Formats: sequence, C-alpha cells, structure tokens
Amino acid sequence: MSQPLVLKNIEGPVAILRLNRPQVLNALNLALMDELVDQLKALQDDDSVRAIILTGNEKAFAAGADIDEMADVSLAEIKMKNQFLVWDIIPRFTKPLIAAVQGYALGGGCELAMSCDMIIASENAVFGQPEINLGVMPGAGGTQRLTKALGKARAMEYLLTGKPLPARVAYECGLVTKLVPDELVMQEALSLAHEIAQKSPVAVTLIKEAVYKALDTPTQVGMDFERNAFYMCFGTEDRVEGMKAFQEKRTPQFKGR
Ligand code: CAA
Repeated sequence: MSQPLVLKNIEGPVAILRLNRPQVLNALNLALMDELVDQLKALQDDDSVRAIILTGNEKAFAAGADIDEMADVSLAEIKMKNQFLVWDIIPRFTKPLIAAVQGYALGGGCELAMSCDMIIASENAVFGQPEINLGVMPGAGGTQRLTKALGKARAMEYLLTGKPLPARVAYECGLVTKLVPDELVMQEALSLAHEIAQKSPVAVTLIKEAVYKALDTPTQVGMDFERNAFYMCFGTEDRVEGMKAFQEKRTPQFKGR
C-alpha cells in the first residue's frame, strides 16, 4: 500500500494533518491536494473535531506546487484541469485551521499557509513566492494575500524578485500570528488550537466569516454581516450557557448547539 500523502492524527478536539512527501520537501502534487481536501471535508463532518492544524516537517511546510508534475503541462491542460479549484475550498472550511510552519513555505506552500486562518511559524521559517524564477506567477492566491498582508510596494518587491520572505518579516507585517523557536512550533499551535476548541463552535465559525468579510468587502457590508451574525448567536444554546456560566462564576461548557 502506498504511503498516505497526508497523515492524520487526532488529539481530543484537535486534528493534525501532516503533509508527507519529505523526499521533495512536501511539494504539492495533485494527489496530495485532493487527499488534503478530502481529509478536511471528513474533519468538517466530524463533530468531535473543533480545530485543525496543518503542518509539514522540520525542513519544509511545503516548497510549492510540484514542479516535475507541471513541467510538461500545456496551457490547454492546465486551464481545463483548473487544478487550483480545490484550493478555494480551504478558507471556506467552517472550523479554524492553523498552519504550523517550519522550514520552507514557498510558492504554493506559502499560498497554502496563507489560506489557513492563522500561521504559527518557526523563527527559521522561510516564506516567499519564487514562481517568477520559473517564468510563471503565483496561481493560488499569492498575489492577493501577500499584497493584503504586506501592502502593494513591499508585495511587489517579493513577488517580482521571488526573493525569500523571512519569518520575522512575515510576522512583522501580520502574515504570521506567532513566531517561536523551531522546537516549540507544534506545542504553540496545539495550545492555540486547544484554546479555541473550548469556545462555542458556532461563534468561532461566525467570527471567522466576519473576519474574511473585513478583508473582502466594503466596511458597511462587513458591519451588516457582523450585526446579523451577532444576532444569530442568540439562537444557540451556547449563548445561553456562556452568559449563565459568567453569572454563576464557572467555566462554560460549549456544545456547538
Ligand atoms: N517541486 C518538485 N520538487 C521539488 C520542489 C518542488 N516545488 N521543491 C523541492 N523539490 C525537490 C528537489 O527537486 C529535490 O529533489 P531531488 O533530491 O530528487 O533532487 C528535493 O526536493 C530536495 O530539494 P533541494 O535539493 O533543492 O533542497 P535545497 O535545500 O537545496 O533547496 C529549496 C530547497 C530552496 C526550497 C529548493 O528546493 C527550491 O527552490 N524548490 C523550488 C521552490 C519553488 O520554486 N516553488 C514554487 C513552485 S511553483 C508554484 O508553487 C506555483 C503556485 O503558485 C501554486
């Protein structure tokens, strides 16, 4: 039996998905991406899972789309295959998705990390969009998400030269949630995931959606969404439990209802 491309491990309410093509620095081929999306869909339906960590290994989160797989593909083939379609599903998952990044997160690897809700990175991690050096450009959100994080002038420099974006710079521009020493990346990601997993899943999902509205829509549209989402929380048992627990001075037990 072939080795799975994405390893899954469940720790209570937190699922860990590990990209597993170490021989090619976790280059993202079509099979891996299909498997990743299938695993995410299964975790979406698993009520016991409330947060997901996506990670690679010490050397690489992922060094980009698999260049060997793309090298001989024609324009017609790549257009008709529309291989990045599955990627669009990733930021639409309702559960929080945390990228735990060590080593390289380049090209599609950088785009995959950026499509997660948060990134915990090692101080030695290296981000970047080197596609320009292959005579192409990012195709899974690099020009959009990097520009939103860095601003036009700095994003242009990284996108047009393909030079590496050090983890420290990624942190300072708000692309990375937290920067930690190599050996603490997984511990930090787990601690964050477990903390969020204790909250009301409905409120977590609505907050996620509202934050993406802030990035993608005019302020008033986002404000309207936020207001209705706030009202929607009042239809949940978790809202009753949260407020009651406050009044009774105890820790709330959220059930996701
Ligand atoms: N695709 C396929 N294979 C890859 C790969 C990739 N993206 N990245 C690394 N590999 C392979 C290498 O070919 C090598 O295989 P062999 O041992 O069989 O030669 C193995 O992984 C180890 O890599 P290196 O020997 O190159 O390791 P290094 O430590 O010397 O260098 C690196 C590391 C700087 C990350 C270098 O591997 C590199 O530049 N990789 C390519 C990065 C890149 O250009 N990514 C963008 C891809 S295009 C894209 O992602 C499009 C998009 O928008 C989705």
